Amino acid sequence: MQIGVLKERRAGETRVAATPDTVKKLVAAGCKVAVETGAGASSQISDALFQEAGATIAPNAAAAAAADVVFKIQKPMTAAEGVDEVGYLKSGSILMAHLSAQTSKDLMQALAAQGVTTFALELMPRISRAQAMDVLSSQSNLAGYKAVVDAAATFGRAMPMMMTAAGTIAPARVLVFGAGVAGLQAIATAKRMGAVVYATDVRYATKEQVESLGGKFIVVDEEKMKAAQTAGGYAKEMDDDFKRKQAEAVRAEVAKSDIVITTALIPGKPAPRLVAGDVVALMKAGSVIVDLAAEAGGNVEGTVKDQAAVTANGVTILGYTNMAARLGRDASSLFSKNILNFITLMLEKGTGNLKINWDDELVKGTLVTKDGKIVHPSLAG
Ligand code: NAI
Repeated sequence: MQIGVLKERRAGETRVAATPDTVKKLVAAGCKVAVETGAGASSQISDALFQEAGATIAPNAAAAAAADVVFKIQKPMTAAEGVDEVGYLKSGSILMAHLSAQTSKDLMQALAAQGVTTFALELMPRISRAQAMDVLSSQSNLAGYKAVVDAAATFGRAMPMMMTAAGTIAPARVLVFGAGVAGLQAIATAKRMGAVVYATDVRYATKEQVESLGGKFIVVDEEKMKAAQTAGGYAKEMDDDFKRKQAEAVRAEVAKSDIVITTALIPGKPAPRLVAGDVVALMKAGSVIVDLAAEAGGNVEGTVKDQAAVTANGVTILGYTNMAARLGRDASSLFSKNILNFITLMLEKGTGNLKINWDDELVKGTLVTKDGKIVHPSLAG
């Protein structure tokens, strides 16, 4: 079976969906791998390293895409976006990527019409068996880390308490909204850097996790928080009464914080607005906010997508999207491992040929198009 790895062409993307390590494993499993020339350049992986690992180098996207299975990081581009990557995909081939399928229905229709079978990796069920294939977790973890590092680099003061002959420096006060994968890593990173860390989430289950990392948890409404988690482990959208209580509970905390990191997301919905402009206005000059929900509309009023915005009272709001791409090498390595683990599930032992169990929960959960149609229940109709 032939696997093709395309170079990512979208602005700001540095990642690649295979590494020499995963190529080696795929070749050992009996697959052939063609990597588009330059695909690893932004992740510091040369064509030569891919070749040493057993891949061939395809001279362009069309040649790399002429495969049975194509790996990508982001959804393919269309002719309207400048490069017709969709057009390069063969009818009958398989595409695996973070497709943002639920917000890209037209693209999914185009892929179906092209006869491509697509697996949207972001739809991987959140169950223990799928953890090693979960791109949302692997990339969010890095994003949470990088958010704190970016904030510390922008903050004009130190993070830890320092007692020196010239006087004492107080530790930075960090507040994290949303204690999911990114938020927990942000808490852990800020603690390691010596900050005093507060956190809040709508899911009460996160209280213990925050405390185990040394963070202080802000409870808004215990009863409602205990009911805020879906069976899939995600947050539900909260009612107006909760939102009002939450805004009141965190207002004073935000004003006291030096750094605020927001990570709150609700799958398939715009990000909840958690920090209003009048609350940002209470923060001290020089404070930093990192809004990791910028892509989904932002948790903070005043966030500008992909920009560092400075408010009238001197607060910098970082609205970078695709934080994982700011750590391209590690992000590629983890994403590639996720995709390798997923395809391994579909390979026949010994031959490297595809043998897909269409009834497998992970296959069904991620399958978006098949036989010319959109088949995922969340997109059907
Ligand atoms: P996410 O990226 O969808 O959301 C981030 C965080 O924001 C969540 O903790 C959510 O509860 C919180 N949030 C949403 N609305 C909020 C609001 N109004 N105020 C404050 N916080 C708000 O979540 P993520 O990081 O993808 O994790 C979701 C769940 O999935 C977690 O329970 C996690 O433990 C679980 N999980 C399970 C995995 C597995 O078993 N394979 C793998 C990864 C995560």
